[in-house]
Amino acid sequence: MTDNGKPKKFQEKMELNVALFMLTLAIAVSIGGLVTVVPLFYLNSTWEDRATTPDGKPKNPELSSVRPYSALELAGRDIYIREGCYTCHSQMIRPFRDEKERYGHYSLAVESKYDHPFQWGSKRTGPDLARVGGKYSDQWHEAHLLDPKSVVPESVMPRYPWFAKATLDPNCVVSSMKGMKMLGVPYTDEDISKAPAMVQGKTEMSAIIAYLQVLGTMVKFEEGKDYRD
Ligand code: HEC
Repeated sequence: MTDNGKPKKFQEKMELNVALFMLTLAIAVSIGGLVTVVPLFYLNSTWEDRATTPDGKPKNPELSSVRPYSALELAGRDIYIREGCYTCHSQMIRPFRDEKERYGHYSLAVESKYDHPFQWGSKRTGPDLARVGGKYSDQWHEAHLLDPKSVVPESVMPRYPWFAKATLDPNCVVSSMKGMKMLGVPYTDEDISKAPAMVQGKTEMSAIIAYLQVLGTMVKFEEGKDYRD
């Protein structure tokens, strides 16, 4: 009973009894966790390229074009992470109409299967970059990264002038590829041995532009096809 003679409500009981509150909280969180995790145990793969039709044929053959990043693109991706571009840009187009109209086909899990760690993010001070590849010329990107306001006067994006001067370290690129290989990216020994020649003498600018230009371009989506089912 409370002071006014009425029986205590559920919420009041919870607020006054810490042990009961913790127990109910644990039950609620466990149910939430089970609902999100358990269905995954019944899927062969969360990558849409592994889906098969009832007669065992690949359902989405066009998704097999997702490939590991080239040495230069991977170097660009490392710079993207080093500079914290993800603090302002997501790489995850959600399956909502407004997102699809602005950015293109919603992101599929298979498109980031070689991304360790993935760059989905959720902070969007700037636009989503999941499909920015091919949207602008290399020259536009260079001008934009050197001084965003030179091409987008109202931009609040920082300038990255050092990209034009800093050159890539081939040893870093090789280590990065070896690390990715350990994480399951299918780089061959040949890919790794050719990497130093691919990046030797190249600037950070050319690497980050190569990375931006490949984003979202590996899959040629079929109009109207739903890849989720
Ligand atoms: C402080 C937040 C911030 C950071 C950090 C940032 N950006 Fe941006 N970015 C923006 C904003 C805001 C825009 C939109 C205005 C513009 O185009 O400059 C933008 C736009 C872009 C665009 C054009 C996208 C489009 O579809 O028009 C690209 C490409 C881009 N940023 C790449 C990068 C890269 C690469 C980095 C890291 C080296 C980076 N950004 C870091 C805020 C940021």
